[in-house]
Amino acid sequence: MNTQALIDTAKAMVAGDKGLLAMDESNPTCNKRFAKLGIPQTVEARRACRELIVTTPRLGECISGAILYDETIRQNKKDGTPFIKVIIDAGIIPGIKVDIGAKEMAGHPGEKVTEGLDGLRDRLKEYVQMGARFAKWRAVIAVDDDIPSRGCIEANAQALARYAALCQETALVPMVEPEVLMDGGHTLERCCEVTEEVLRTVFNHLYTQRVMLEGMILKPNMVLPGLTCPKQEAADKVADATVKCLLRAVPAAVPVIAFLSGGQPAELASARLNSMNVRFKARMPWALAFSFSRAIQQPALEIWQGKEANVLAAQQALYHRAMCNAAARRGTYDAAVERLGGESAPCDGSSVKGSVDK
Ligand code: 13P
Repeated sequence: MNTQALIDTAKAMVAGDKGLLAMDESNPTCNKRFAKLGIPQTVEARRACRELIVTTPRLGECISGAILYDETIRQNKKDGTPFIKVIIDAGIIPGIKVDIGAKEMAGHPGEKVTEGLDGLRDRLKEYVQMGARFAKWRAVIAVDDDIPSRGCIEANAQALARYAALCQETALVPMVEPEVLMDGGHTLERCCEVTEEVLRTVFNHLYTQRVMLEGMILKPNMVLPGLTCPKQEAADKVADATVKCLLRAVPAAVPVIAFLSGGQPAELASARLNSMNVRFKARMPWALAFSFSRAIQQPALEIWQGKEANVLAAQQALYHRAMCNAAARRGTYDAAVERLGGESAPCDGSSVKGSVDK
């Protein structure tokens, strides 16, 4: 195992104020999002959507890594250029989702366990040959009065640790993603309690499986009240709860925490990440960054609607969200940054002063 190379890649993945773009939706997930917007659920529509994303002008100013899906890493632009080449040429590090999905867990109604360990070593080697430098595995933990169960947390944490060890053996930085879901009416406090238990269990298993913490990235949920909880908290409250929970459970050797967005509205995800960095950045042992899918892609998807004529406007919206989240990493995201147009705004937000409202 080339320890230094893993550490260097992990650091490069969140260099400066950049973050990660998750574009690794499985075909069923991608189709579901297309269906809601009336976009055809075809290979060609998925390819066109990915071409729109990877060819977004100046994306590399705010995005340091992109997570691809098995279909996408093999796809090309219309002119035949492989997506992976387009990404690398833009200065973005390519990664790949390697789990094969969360499946119903036997004996555990309402809970899921993520599969994909069988044959993983060989799949990882193929992805490395294709140019991937990091890999992602997502576990999902549902919250209700009597779940998550210990069995579900343990099974998912062990799978995450075994996947992470295989990644490091193959020279891929593992992006470890245990997601406590937002669905449900649970409170912020309950999310905090579950997230802490999940993270403690994950790090126990990572230790047992000899995963080198300096050469990995943690991709957790923010600590949030459930979507239907009547008490929705302000960004500062979310920032406090999230950082408190992470400090209890995440070792300081981990270089980066890159949050998933989990279905939060895009602007709220930026505001909450911003609040964490404003209040705590100087005191944190790890960088607090983003690895969003919906909170970067969704506004662009809604503008695109599968139509060639909308590509440029959709790319501006995509760049805009990436730029807002880079500002949130610096702790300089605010309403003025949000109002900047995607086309004209530099990624460091430096034109905010005196900028024209759009
Ligand atoms: P969201 O940001 O939409 O939650 O997606 C992140 C991700 O990678 C899901 O696996």
